[in-house]
Amino acid sequence: MGKINVLDKAVAEKIAAGEVVERPSSVVKELVENSFDAQATSVTVEIEHGGTSYIRVTDNGVGIMPEDVSVAFLRHATSKIKDEGDLEGISTLGFRGEALCSVSAVSRTEMLTRTANNDMGVYMVVEGGETKENRTAGCPLGTTVTVRNLFFNTPARMKFLKKDATEAAYITDICQRAALSHPEISFRYIRDGRDIFFTPGDNQLRNTVRAVFGKDISQAMLDVEEKTGIYSIKGLTGSNKLSRPNRNMQYFFVN
Ligand SMILES: Nc1ncnc2c1ncn2[C@@H]1O[C@H](COP(=O)(O)OP(=O)(O)OP(=O)(O)O)[C@@H](O)[C@H]1O
Ligand SMILES: [Mg+2]
Repeated sequence: MGKINVLDKAVAEKIAAGEVVERPSSVVKELVENSFDAQATSVTVEIEHGGTSYIRVTDNGVGIMPEDVSVAFLRHATSKIKDEGDLEGISTLGFRGEALCSVSAVSRTEMLTRTANNDMGVYMVVEGGETKENRTAGCPLGTTVTVRNLFFNTPARMKFLKKDATEAAYITDICQRAALSHPEISFRYIRDGRDIFFTPGDNQLRNTVRAVFGKDISQAMLDVEEKTGIYSIKGLTGSNKLSRPNRNMQYFFVN
C-alpha cells in the first residue's frame, strides 16, 4: 500500500487557514483590509485579551448583499477579481478570497452586514468552518465581524501564542499602520475596553499622527513633498528633536 494520503477536508482546511491566520493580529489585518476595500469612511477595531477571546471590526462600508454572505465565507470566493487578467491590475488590498474562510475555520466568526439597497441585513455565524446561523437581521449600513475563541480547534496554534500583552502589541502595530496609511478614514481602536486612539478621518496626515502618537510628536514633524516624472512622495518626517537610534516608528506605504 502506498504511503501518500489525501488529507480529509477538515484537516486540509485547518492547514490552509494556518497560512492566512498566524496570530490574532493577522485576523485584525484581514478584517481591516476588507473594511478599507469596502470603501468605509469609519472603522472601529475592538479587542480583548490580545485578540484571543474577542476581535470585532465594524465598518460603514458598502456591506454584502444577502445572497452573497454565505459565498463570502467560501475559499477562493472574492468580489475583487474575476479572472487571471485581473491579477495584472489589482487595486484592492485583498483579492485571494481566502481571509473570511480561513478566519472562520479556526474561530467562531459572526457577521452582521447590510447594503444600501436592502432594508434588512444578514446575520451569519460560522464556527470551525461550519455554518451555525444564517438569517435576516436588522442592522446599520456596513459590516461588523466578530471573531471569538481564535484557534479553539487548533491547539498547536494556540500553544504558540504569546502573552496577551504581546499579542495586543502586534495588533496595536497593525492598527497604527492602518490608520496612518489612510488619513481619510476615521479609525478607532479600543483595547480591553479602553480607547487607545481615534483618528478624525479628515485626510490630514498630521491630525492622524496626532491621534495615534500624540500632540508632541505631531507638532515636531516636518512636511515632505516631492514629485518627479514618475514618482511622488508625500508625508511627514521627524525634526532633529525626534531622532531615534533605530528604525522604530518609520512607516512607508507604497501606492
Ligand atoms: N467588511 C466588508 N465589507 C464588504 N464586503 C466584504 C467585507 N468583508 C468581506 N467582504 C466581501 O467578502 C469577500 C470575501 O472576503 P475575503 O476577505 O475572504 O476575500 P478577499 O478580501 O476578496 O481576498 P483576501 O483573501 O485576499 O482578503 C470579499 O471579496 C468581499 O466581497
Ligand atoms: Mg479580504
